[in-house]
Amino acid sequence: MINSIRQARGIKRTITVKGDKSISHRGLLLGAIAEGNTRIYNLSSSADVMNTLDCLRQLNVAINKHSNFWEISGNGLYGFKVSPTPLDCGNSGTTMRLLPGILAAQPFTSTLIGDESLGKRPMGRIIEPLTQMGAKIDSQPGGLAPLQIHGNQLNPIHYISSVASAQVKSCILLAGLYAQGMTTVIEPHLSRDHTERMLTDFGIFVKKNGLAISIEGQQALHGCKINVPGDFSSAAFFISAALIVPNSELKIKNICLNPTRTGLLEVLNQMGAEIEIQKYEEKHSEPIGEITVFTSQLNGVEIPPELVPKLIDEVPILAIIATQASGTTKLTGAKELRVKESDRLHAIANNFSLMGIQIEEKKDGFIIKGPQKIKGTVVDSYGDHRIAMAFAIAGLIAEGETQLKNAECVKISMPDFFEILQGIVIE
Ligand code: S3P
Repeated sequence: MINSIRQARGIKRTITVKGDKSISHRGLLLGAIAEGNTRIYNLSSSADVMNTLDCLRQLNVAINKHSNFWEISGNGLYGFKVSPTPLDCGNSGTTMRLLPGILAAQPFTSTLIGDESLGKRPMGRIIEPLTQMGAKIDSQPGGLAPLQIHGNQLNPIHYISSVASAQVKSCILLAGLYAQGMTTVIEPHLSRDHTERMLTDFGIFVKKNGLAISIEGQQALHGCKINVPGDFSSAAFFISAALIVPNSELKIKNICLNPTRTGLLEVLNQMGAEIEIQKYEEKHSEPIGEITVFTSQLNGVEIPPELVPKLIDEVPILAIIATQASGTTKLTGAKELRVKESDRLHAIANNFSLMGIQIEEKKDGFIIKGPQKIKGTVVDSYGDHRIAMAFAIAGLIAEGETQLKNAECVKISMPDFFEILQGIVIE
């Protein structure tokens, strides 16, 4: 699918975005291993979350859709049944890295497969700690999927992770639920903490000591009600559009403002963005708010590496914003972007050169000097949803027409992206 985008004269309206993808995955996974039923309101409709849901159904978990919520009949820690067919994680890194935390403790073997992109992403980062805990995992050379997970009785570990990754942290915490004793994971910088927060909702005590997170194994989870707030990473594309398209004022309601996710707001604040946060309430352990964004004169900024995990999914759109800021924007410490759904640094640099934008691509980041003019042309999504959405927003300020190839991949996180965009743009 090729989508055409033209210059916009303004962005106006009040919108909401669907439930957060990361929180939705965790709601399904924890609901599946809990005792009793869990109701999830505003579950993400993304293809990634549907992959987690389908895998759990294949493992004999009953999940049903009602008018405005999903209900999961929890199977308890050990109530899964072996899946007769491989578990297909599709494009979803979160499914392939979190589910093994549970499967590693089941008394059977599971096979996890994914699409071409997922088959290139590093899984050694979860294989190593799970193996240390006692699981046996077969992978393709280089620690790649497909994975075969031979479940076993697990031992607790004290694991110092070399990457700040919420997927790795969450996988170990899930496995830790099955181990006899205390499992601790320590990351180099704080990554998103939705698992820790949600475990508390399910009645599990999680101990936090700086960057160390610990959990006592063999505790039962209790089914609960989860209200998933709007996805900040989805909202980020519309926030950015309103900042760089002239004459804009956009309000986004009911969005998750968890500080481990909103690094972009910290950077935008430093860049001089006019953004008002209207409400701030803690609902079901996640902070939620309403934000209003106005067209702003922005200045370039240096992004400190410790902030990177808090804006890891927002880098593609941040690169687009940087082209419109006066002065230099410099990103370092983001080599993880090379192993996302695409090599995002490479995808950004390639599309920039097609659009006539100067960028210095670095091993672990970039340098962008602004403001620069953007030329509408044909660009590629690289099959990566966040690249697709970032360049659709670039199209709103580009001269002429921007044609986005392989635009259908937006469904991975936000199936209604183009619909929402159409509804807010003044042409
Ligand atoms: C996610 C964690 C991040 C993020 C991904 C979702 C999660 O990945 O990029 O989109 O839900 O835990 P890493 O754990 O690889 O940083």
